[in-house]
Amino acid sequence: MTRFGIIGGGLMGHGIAVALAQAGHGAGVFDNDPAVLAGLGDRVGSALARSGTPRARVAAVGDRIVAVDSLAELAKQADVVIEAVSERLAVKHDVLAALEPHLPPDVPVWTNTSVLSISAVARAMLHPQRLVGVHWWNPPYLIPLVEIAPGTDTDPGFVDHAHTLIAELGKTTVRLHRDVPGFIGNRLQFALVREALQLLADGVCEPETIDTVVRAGVGLRWAAVGPMENADYIGLDLTRAILGSLAPSLSTETHEFPVLDRLLAQEHAGRASGRGLLDWRPGRAEEVAARLEAGIRHNLPARRGGRAGHGGSH
Ligand SMILES: NC(=O)c1ccc[n+]([C@@H]2O[C@H](COP(=O)([O-])OP(=O)(O)OC[C@H]3O[C@@H](n4cnc5c(N)ncnc54)[C@H](O)[C@@H]3O)[C@@H](O)[C@H]2O)c1
Repeated sequence: MTRFGIIGGGLMGHGIAVALAQAGHGAGVFDNDPAVLAGLGDRVGSALARSGTPRARVAAVGDRIVAVDSLAELAKQADVVIEAVSERLAVKHDVLAALEPHLPPDVPVWTNTSVLSISAVARAMLHPQRLVGVHWWNPPYLIPLVEIAPGTDTDPGFVDHAHTLIAELGKTTVRLHRDVPGFIGNRLQFALVREALQLLADGVCEPETIDTVVRAGVGLRWAAVGPMENADYIGLDLTRAILGSLAPSLSTETHEFPVLDRLLAQEHAGRASGRGLLDWRPGRAEEVAARLEAGIRHNLPARRGGRAGHGGSH
């Protein structure tokens, strides 16, 4: 059993705790918002109920997750620390700077940043060699993928250690050769989002149509056959010819996203404000959360026997 210290008990922090506890590990969770810490037990309970944990095991698994009330307390008990605080570089720097005086230099620290450079996160650290980018996907107890990346100063031994521990959880681990913002998954995901926004800005279709195309077409293909395998499957000559004619019309925008800016100026920020690209009628958020988990679960049995890619792309 490894004892993890998780900083940040929000969406990802509590979900990662559940994934670790299901595999028999312990997790001490610290959050600087007392309301988040007070609600941790309930959120863990409902994640466990949804996660497929057999009812008889729910209490034992839940008991492996405890709230701790300071970084010093967290550091005292942790074999590995996971940073899962808000996605702001300054916040991550402050947390790591406050943590390290309490933490022996050989204890690994993993950051769950989505799109920040690991080297940039490490910049505030006394011991940057111990920081590894370990990027989970939401919900962490369901989605198999965990991406692992070093920063410029990361000692490879810490990367190997993270890779071994995550693979032992039964996760699909991929290992990047070097640090790039967004790992692989968010770079691919947001290249698609950028193109979708361009289609909307150009008046090609409605937002709902984008989702239909992905859910009924592209997404189904990619859940079965990845884009690299598909490129070979259709032939690299055809792939080259398609890119040659299509690429000049694809978005390369880096700063201007008028569709989003217009909605944000009207305070239509999406789910939380009741309107965004789509209309968030009451009940839609719950329906989406349930559909997301059910959809992932539906695709998981196909992976049985394969547990694709322990060791992944290194
Ligand atoms: N939401 C996702 O789908 C997703 C997926 C992968 C990675 N991530 C990354 O995981 C990290 C956490 O994201 P989230 O979605 O859980 O956000 P969240 O807002 O749900 O949780 C962040 C938590 O950090 C706490 N926090 C903020 N400052 C703190 C501090 N100084 N000390 C202790 N706790 C502090 C907040 O109180 C909050 O509970 C981010 O880096 C995010 O980019 C998110």
